[in-house]
Amino acid sequence: MDYTKFFSADVPSFLRSPVREIFRKVDLNAICSFAGGYPAAVTFPMAEIPGLAAKVLEKYGTRALQYGATQGVPELREVLARRYGVPVSQVQITTSSQQGIDVCSRVFLDPGDIVLANNPVYLGALQSFKAYRAQVMGIRPYLDQVQGSFGPGPKFIYVIPDFNNPSGETMTLEERQEIVRLARELDCLIVEDSPYRELRYSGEPLPTIREMAPERTLHLGSFSKIFAPGFRLGWIIGPEPLLEQIYVCKQCLDLCPPVLDQYMACEFMASGMLDANLAKTIVEYRRRRDLMVSLLEKYMPEGVSWTYPEGGLFLWLTLPEGIDTVALYDRALSAGVAYVAGSFFYTDGSHRNTMRMNFSFIDEAKMEPGIRLLASLVREAVCYYNLLVRKMNEEHIGKN
Ligand SMILES: Cc1ncc(COP(=O)(O)O)c(C=O)c1O
Repeated sequence: MDYTKFFSADVPSFLRSPVREIFRKVDLNAICSFAGGYPAAVTFPMAEIPGLAAKVLEKYGTRALQYGATQGVPELREVLARRYGVPVSQVQITTSSQQGIDVCSRVFLDPGDIVLANNPVYLGALQSFKAYRAQVMGIRPYLDQVQGSFGPGPKFIYVIPDFNNPSGETMTLEERQEIVRLARELDCLIVEDSPYRELRYSGEPLPTIREMAPERTLHLGSFSKIFAPGFRLGWIIGPEPLLEQIYVCKQCLDLCPPVLDQYMACEFMASGMLDANLAKTIVEYRRRRDLMVSLLEKYMPEGVSWTYPEGGLFLWLTLPEGIDTVALYDRALSAGVAYVAGSFFYTDGSHRNTMRMNFSFIDEAKMEPGIRLLASLVREAVCYYNLLVRKMNEEHIGKN
């Protein structure tokens, strides 16, 4: 039977995540994987969870298992509003920040609309923008293209100012100011995706874009990296008229975010457990980041560079020009090491000499053998490429 005729016109625009495809094919626990963006399981508050669940059931009774308000349970919205210094009316709970991205796409984007996003861009965001058939453009190429002309403006600018996934980079104050200035000039919204902001290991925090332009920013937060991703909980802070429409849209998505999870997240925060756990998580991840950086310094051949993330879960490697991390991938996987090719995060598939490396998930004992193995594969690929170039040059000289 031909099923394709049943699919909507949106379906051909759905992007399959290469990262999730990797997860389907290999058992990441069986190899040295720097591929996923998973938090370390040791950061999950396993000891506290049973007590937390019992307390919630005792305190809220059957309410904890009932449908809840579409905006989220008032108790959790209040705790978040206090933490971020905003009125409760500006807080919408989401079923994770991926839903936050998707709901913004659904509410603001028509087919053909422009979204500005800096390359490389978070894959899950790209998937949502594409699913609504938006055009995703880099900020610089867009500005070059529209110079002097008055074409349609972007609907929003999508940014991850703190510890970008995939690059690990943090926007400077000037870059943040530039985004705000641009959004005001183009009269568009800003979607500030911020799941890693609380995971800072060094350097000083900078203001969020929402703090700089609250009138046009939707700030997306997540419990995935500060509590546990299995809860699938996040939030949006933004202007009430925008949240009102998001609220209506969310009614048809899931009626309400998971209620038991929300009460547990609320108790976890209100009791101070979240901050205590976060402090331990930061120490853990800082050590892992420093270990990965020191191992890269020790093993990677000359010509390989990497970002130094002040927080988050990733760093970004750039290999010498001509080395193709997509082509290298299968060899790496059979040798027992995984990463994500950087070109997957580029809208045009460019930058094939880059890769994303996650330092939070891998067992620390596997970090050194993994980097050593990866470095030897990179060294081999560089030698092979140099040999190829030399041979081509000799042939070229021979011909002339
Ligand atoms: C930048 C960014 N945004 C959103 C998400 C989605 O997170 P969640 O849906 O678990 O909140 C991720 C997940 O890794 C991410 O890296």
